Amino acid sequence: MLALVLWALVATFLLHGAQAASAAQWRDRSIYQVIIDRYALPNGSDPTTCNPSAQTWCGGTWNTLRENLDYIQDAGFTAVWISPVQQNWQGARTPYGDAYHGYWIQDSTQLNEKFGTADDLLALSKEIHQRDMFLMVDVVVNDVMALSTSPDYSIYMFKDASFYHPYCAVDYSNTTSEQLCWLGDLNVTLPDLDTTNPTVISQYGSWISELVHTYSIDGLRIDAAKHVDPDFWPTFCGAQGASGVFCMGEVFGGLDVEDAAEWQGPLDSVLNYPMYTALTQAFQIPGPLNITALTDTISQSKKLYKDTTVLGNFLENQDLPRWASGSVDVQTLYNAMAFNFMTDGIPIVYYGQEQYFSGPGDPLNREPLWPSHYTKTDAYKFIQTLNQFRNYLVNSTASTSNPWTTAETQVLTTSQFGIALMKGDVITVLTNVGSPAQNNTHIAVSSPYDRNTALTNIITCDQWVVGSQGYIDVEYTLGGQAVILIPSTVLASTKSPVCAGSVQTSQGADDVSGSASNAAFGAVKSNMWILSVVIAVVISMSLGWCS
Ligand SMILES: *[C@@H]1O[C@H](CO)[C@@H](O)[C@H](O)[C@H]1NC(C)=O
Ligand SMILES: *[C@@H]1O[C@H](CO)[C@@H](O)[C@H](O)[C@H]1NC(C)=O
Ligand SMILES: *[C@@H]1O[C@H](CO)[C@@H](O)[C@H](O)[C@H]1NC(C)=O
Ligand SMILES: *[C@@H]1O[C@H](CO)[C@@H](O)[C@H](O)[C@H]1NC(C)=O
Ligand SMILES: *[C@@H]1O[C@H](CO)[C@@H](O)[C@H](O)[C@H]1NC(C)=O
Ligand SMILES: *[C@@H]1O[C@H](CO)[C@@H](O)[C@H](O)[C@H]1NC(C)=O
Repeated sequence: MLALVLWALVATFLLHGAQAASAAQWRDRSIYQVIIDRYALPNGSDPTTCNPSAQTWCGGTWNTLRENLDYIQDAGFTAVWISPVQQNWQGARTPYGDAYHGYWIQDSTQLNEKFGTADDLLALSKEIHQRDMFLMVDVVVNDVMALSTSPDYSIYMFKDASFYHPYCAVDYSNTTSEQLCWLGDLNVTLPDLDTTNPTVISQYGSWISELVHTYSIDGLRIDAAKHVDPDFWPTFCGAQGASGVFCMGEVFGGLDVEDAAEWQGPLDSVLNYPMYTALTQAFQIPGPLNITALTDTISQSKKLYKDTTVLGNFLENQDLPRWASGSVDVQTLYNAMAFNFMTDGIPIVYYGQEQYFSGPGDPLNREPLWPSHYTKTDAYKFIQTLNQFRNYLVNSTASTSNPWTTAETQVLTTSQFGIALMKGDVITVLTNVGSPAQNNTHIAVSSPYDRNTALTNIITCDQWVVGSQGYIDVEYTLGGQAVILIPSTVLASTKSPVCAGSVQTSQGADDVSGSASNAAFGAVKSNMWILSVVIAVVISMSLGWCS
């Protein structure tokens, strides 16, 4: 009997140890965000009936996500963020439709039966872990949902009005009001928990601890985090909190880095709304094409965040217009996406972005994914390349003294047309010129690499060579494509799966100088013999690593 108890204790400890994913582990991941109701249909369902503007359930479940994880894994993601699993509003339909999105909490101690059973959620978690991915679950603790300002509290996890703040409408210019008053409006009220109440703190603690352990959850996305008393979060989040896992909080906002940064500390991480806003201003067409907004936000971020390398980087989510609704040119998506993967932070892709979905906002930005037939579009393949490259960087530098994910992003060069950044060995050159070819636009990137250093652009696998004084002149004669460069010797010596084989298939100096006109620099054209020597060296190296 004693042995059994000891065994159970040890097992619990081991299980806990294995589950409690830390900020350091999440830093290396990339996340695909799913709204369970919209990701996949059960076999045999009619695929034509889901209408986002009807604001009702379309049929996705934890099982249908589990059956369709290949699409996420093949894109190279190493974590899945799912919409809330808590029981949602059981009452009548509202003026804003039904609780298909999962954010209208009723009794958190029960699961949302629309999405499956406890066994289904366990099976999903198990399958995600079998694929070496992490599971992030969205949780709502700020509020519950009601249709009036005097609801029947007996239906919720906290069954008495004394656990809630009294009703008041949020004044968004007043921080106290944002934390104490009720989100929503008079059609759908969101009764606000008093997260300074010791009973609320301890019962939420037991609840999240049990949820995380039962379903082996690796991390939490926290809804409406800035609407909760900041002192609550250390009791709930992180290694010392009740959940024991990494938390990434929603701190909805605009360009102001200070507003977002003050929540990193109470929380391990926040969704990087200031950088998202800056990316829209720098890249979207039409738009102000304001690269300064991006460089300012990068420098503010370095000053104000505790750790930029664990922030959540995104271009879309269930509350924002799809990127394609704000920008007509697909190259802007590729350039902004490359920023999110190649700079500090954890890249997050909202389901459907890889299908160029274009819903302009809630509810139209919650399109069903199935009409896309899960096609491996160019955007899907672009994201796959970014994931493959980032995963390779993570893996190949993890046990070195300079892991790629902890290296701080440096701005090398800014221009009116774009920006060049460096993180670890990787130089990323991004532009907002869009798809049309530009013969008279270029960015002269000042790099720390020596003249004649051979580089590989991992987007195209083209070979580049650094020009005099370390300059890399990026031209846009084939349009404004993102350029991601790494020394070819690094790729070769670490057996990269990215661009493997591309170097030895280089067709010779003429073809390479052809690709250089997409994207290269004067030094090549005037120094063809050097290029040939470099290519010869690179070819022999690549043959060496293949053998
Ligand atoms: C649905 O179809 C998929 C793919 O054919 C299959 O793996 C899965 O088992 C099916 N699910 C059910 C519930 O029949
Ligand atoms: C801010 O909101 C709180 C809570 O509603 C209220 O008590 C306080 O008076 C407000 N402050 C100002 C300056 O309006
Ligand atoms: C409630 O919803 C109706 C229908 O959508 C809308 O016309 C009305 O403005 C809403 N009322 C409030 C208080 O927001
Ligand atoms: C560009 O962004 C900067 C920093 O946010 C701002 O000061 C400036 O006014 C913006 N310029 C334009 C043209 O929008
Ligand atoms: C990292 O390397 C390990 C061992 O080679 C491999 O199993 C794993 O899939 C790699 N992870 C990624 C994200 O590439
Ligand atoms: C750019 O240059 C190429 C080759 O010199 C030429 O064919 C093309 O017409 C030019 N495009 C523009 C937009 O000037």
